[in-house]
Amino acid sequence: IGDGTLKEKLPFPIGAALNIGLLKNNSNYRNLVIKEFNSVTAENVMKMNALRPSATTYNFTDADYLVDFAKANGKRVHGHTLNWYKSLPDWVNNFNGTTADWENLLKTHIETVVGRYKGKVTSWDVVNEALEDDGTYRNSIWVQKLGVGYIERAFQYARNADPDALLFYNDYGHEYSATKRAAIVKLVTDLKAKGVPINGIGLQMHTRYNQTDANLAAAINTAVATGLRVHISELDIALNPDNNQSLTYTTALGELQAAKYKFIVKTFNAIPREQQFGITTWNVTDADSWIPSNYNRPDWPMPFNNLYQRKAAYQGILDGVK
Ligand code: G3I
Repeated sequence: IGDGTLKEKLPFPIGAALNIGLLKNNSNYRNLVIKEFNSVTAENVMKMNALRPSATTYNFTDADYLVDFAKANGKRVHGHTLNWYKSLPDWVNNFNGTTADWENLLKTHIETVVGRYKGKVTSWDVVNEALEDDGTYRNSIWVQKLGVGYIERAFQYARNADPDALLFYNDYGHEYSATKRAAIVKLVTDLKAKGVPINGIGLQMHTRYNQTDANLAAAINTAVATGLRVHISELDIALNPDNNQSLTYTTALGELQAAKYKFIVKTFNAIPREQQFGITTWNVTDADSWIPSNYNRPDWPMPFNNLYQRKAAYQGILDGVK
């Protein structure tokens, strides 16, 4: 399946979210990443629970490993994520501070992490998943402690630490909730209007083989209309969204998946080149996808199978730019 590689064939950056354990210890995985992709995102090692064992200490070992791997192999690094409501260390969830203490926590974390990787990490998901599917602000610990104004200050702190980094707001649901899509567009449009330093919008796009083309196109094209750079930041296409425990992978399902990958790539390829930040798949192969373990079901969301071989989905991606 396919000739050449994704990074050779696609006219925009193509990335993957990397599992640090596999990157270090599995040469099949590592070689596949080196061969096929030209952009990488840390699946977990740049999250606050990974970087911050305590209030006064940082652990950059794994994040540095990923950044060094990228540098050695000529890959762009997209940083994920400076601020999220999940994957916080216990000491943050239990942090007993004043409003000023919380602001200092937000500020110091962002400035320290972005500052460390200045010139090495091209772009950051500054704020991840601040909105609910009904378009309201998520009542996260950050909103509870600091109010929704934390969002614009997070961007400003990131900008202060690296004037050249591209700063993204990242979220999911653009394709399945028109309400959430509108709320995300309003949020980033308001940030831009206020002069907040935001450069891009991340569409996670954890989607499914039977999502409609109309919804997928609406997600991408509505993001384009903001004028921001667009990153399809966490793409995967589930084949078993109904959690059927006895489902098996078939050629027919693989072809449906390939068609959906093709449609997404084709739609993305048609947007203005200067707004194409790239497409990043969330994981590399069916064996390392977060979906089977997270939802406790068989599934095959990725362009490579669990033997690291190209699937029909891989050809679908290439067909999207033909
Ligand atoms: O590493 C520990 C292991 O030592 C422990 O035994 C095990 C038991 O729970 O947990 C392991 O950590 C897990 C980690 O993944 C590594 O496998 C965490 O519990 C688990 O919460 C974590 O899940 C990650 C999740 O984000 C939460 O951070 C997934 O790998 C990761 O794929 C997922 O990625 C998110 C994006 O960041 C944001 N958008 C949605 C996307 C998918 O949920």
